[in-house]
Amino acid sequence: MHDHNCIDASRVLVRHGFLQRFCRLRVRFELMLKKCEEKRKARMEVEKDQYKSATSIQVPHMKGGEGDKSYAKNSSWQVFLNDLPGNDFNTLFKSLPSFYERLKKEKGDEFGQRTFIAAVPGSFYGRLFPNNSLHLIFSSYSLNWLSQAPKGLISDTGVSLNKENIFITETSHPSVRKAYLDQFESDFTTFLRSRRSELEAGGRMVLVFVVDDTIFHPCYFAPLGTAIKDMVSEGLIEESKLESFNMPIYKPRDEEIRLVIEREGSFDIHQHQITFKVDWVLSLESEDKALDLEKYGKGKQVASRVISAIEPLLVTHFGHAVMDDMFQRYSVKLTEYLETKEGFIETLVICLIKK
Ligand SMILES: C[S@@+](CC[C@H](N)C(=O)[O-])C[C@H]1O[C@@H](n2cnc3c(N)ncnc32)[C@H](O)[C@@H]1O
Repeated sequence: MHDHNCIDASRVLVRHGFLQRFCRLRVRFELMLKKCEEKRKARMEVEKDQYKSATSIQVPHMKGGEGDKSYAKNSSWQVFLNDLPGNDFNTLFKSLPSFYERLKKEKGDEFGQRTFIAAVPGSFYGRLFPNNSLHLIFSSYSLNWLSQAPKGLISDTGVSLNKENIFITETSHPSVRKAYLDQFESDFTTFLRSRRSELEAGGRMVLVFVVDDTIFHPCYFAPLGTAIKDMVSEGLIEESKLESFNMPIYKPRDEEIRLVIEREGSFDIHQHQITFKVDWVLSLESEDKALDLEKYGKGKQVASRVISAIEPLLVTHFGHAVMDDMFQRYSVKLTEYLETKEGFIETLVICLIKK
C-alpha cells in the first residue's frame, strides 16, 4: 500500500547567480513554497479519496499535524540552481554548508535537513530538465539577459546604429530599441517553450524582471558608457571597440512581457503582479564598511556589483588591461550621478500558471 507519510520531494528550479541573494529573497520564495505545498495538499486529498477504503492511511496535515503526521515537517525540497556553464559553481558549492546551517538555525533542523540543493549548468534559452519534472520555477533578474546582443544593431555595411552607446540611451535611434525588443521577444519565447515542457501541468513560474517604466530612467550602464567614452577620447580604448559593443541586456516594458506570454500561449498570467522600485544603493548589503567612508564609496559599491555581473563580457571585448581603470572611472561617474539624482531599478514580479 502506498505510504502517505513518505517524504514527497518537490523539485524547484531557482534561477540563481548568488546564494546570498537567495537569502534576501527568501520571504517571497517562502510564499511560493507555501503555494506549492497547498497544491500538493490538494493532490494528497485526491489520493486520499482513491484510497478511502483503506483505514490505516494517515494523510499528513499542512498545519497542526505533529511528528509523522505533519505534512510541513515531512515535506522535502529539491532545489536546482541554474546558471551559464561559465558561472563560478565552485564558490556556490562551497557556500552550501553554511547555507544549510543557516537554514537549520532559521527554520529548524527538520526544514534544513529536508532541503536538497543541486546545480544545473546550461543556458535557460534551451532545455535543462526532463519533461514534467518541475513544480515551481523561479527566475530572478536573469531574463533581462539576452542570448546575444541584437544582430540588427550593425547594418549590412558594418555601420553601428548605436555608435557611442553601449546600451539603449536617450540619444539612441528608435531602431536600436526595436532591435533589442526583437531579440527579447525571440529569447523570451524560447525560454517559455523550454519551461512549458519541464513544468508539470498547473505548475507555477515566478519571474522577476527589471522593467522599463517608459519614463526614461537612466540605467546604471549609462555612467559606464560615459566612462568608456572618456577612455576612447584619451586614446586608451579604440573607437571601433566602443562602436561594436552593445550590452546583451534589455529592460522590457510590462506590456511587452505580457504580449510574448500571450502569443506563446502555454501559460496563464496569474492576477498577482507586483511592481516596486529597488534603490541602487539601498539594495546593497554593505560588505565593506571602509567603502562607506570613502568619497567614491557609494559608486564603488554599485560599480562592483554591476561589474561582477558583466566583467566577462567587458574583458572579452575590451581586454583585461583596461579593466581596473574602467572600474575606477565608472565608480567616480556613478558617485557623481548619485550626488544629484536618484538611482533605482523598477522591478516587476509576474506569476504564471502552466495551462
Ligand atoms: C543579474 S544576475 C541575477 C542573479 C540572481 N538570480 C539574483 O537575483 O541576484 C543574472 C544571472 O543570470 C545568468 N544568466 C544570464 N544568461 C543566462 C542564460 N542564458 N542561462 C542561464 N543563466 C543566465 C548570469 O550568468 C547571472 O548570474
